[in-house]
Amino acid sequence: MATNILKPQTQAIPITPPPEVSAEAPTVSFLSSTSTTASVDLDAKAPFHAIQSLFDHLNAHPEDISKLNATYPRRGVIKTAALHKTESDHRPLTNPTQYVPTILSSVSILAGVDLSTAHSSYNMNYRLCDYNPYTAAPESSNGCGEHTDYGTFSIIFQDGTSGLEIEETPGVWVPVPGDAIVVLAGWCAVILSGGRVAAARHRVRRTPGVRRLSAVLFVAPDLEVKLKPLGESQPAKAFSETIMNGELDVETFKDVMGKRWRYREGNEEIENGKSLSQDNEIENMVWG
Ligand SMILES: [Fe+2]
Repeated sequence: MATNILKPQTQAIPITPPPEVSAEAPTVSFLSSTSTTASVDLDAKAPFHAIQSLFDHLNAHPEDISKLNATYPRRGVIKTAALHKTESDHRPLTNPTQYVPTILSSVSILAGVDLSTAHSSYNMNYRLCDYNPYTAAPESSNGCGEHTDYGTFSIIFQDGTSGLEIEETPGVWVPVPGDAIVVLAGWCAVILSGGRVAAARHRVRRTPGVRRLSAVLFVAPDLEVKLKPLGESQPAKAFSETIMNGELDVETFKDVMGKRWRYREGNEEIENGKSLSQDNEIENMVWG
């Protein structure tokens, strides 16, 4: 395993916010040579003291978890997979942040196309994760296996505990500093950019006995958007006919990914679940 710590590349890129955004623009520093991963100096912080209190309460009062689930019936926003599976987290939903437009601008620069038109409704989910050695199954690695996210990008807030790793080149994993706020590109960015942006593969590895909290804001295009390369230029990679014909919308893509995720965490069985990984299934849909 690589022991390097990801450091920002030499150039930090100040991003100009869109005119309607009054917040001071954050500085985005790319962490990988492939520009799929960046750290960002946001003023926003995840309220980890409150997040820990919330999880402590839910762990002590599991009956309240089912109440939360009932609050958001379409998506399981908090679950007890940690009690049964080797990978675990808990997920309530809270408010989105105000920094998304400026980060979307920076991803648009990388993509070479204006992504804002596909993101008019702010399709976002905020997920809180508790990698907790006391609620994880005894045989659990209490981490999160390698994968790529489905949306345009994910912003990961961390409580200072290390564990997040990025695949810098195939098979080479490097740890991200535990206090960095990290932006990871996802599959919708890959498609909309015509393959000019790559999805950042990542995973969470845990130290036995150490608890890690994170808060992740997932940003995706509007649900009705057809996922195909934007703009007039020739895609940098060959996409499937489904993609080029505009036959895959964001909502369908999200459902496929969600199904995979629930399978991973033991909430749902799917046919041929073991024969195909989540990333393989997406690649089959996306590439020509
Ligand atoms: Fe992820």
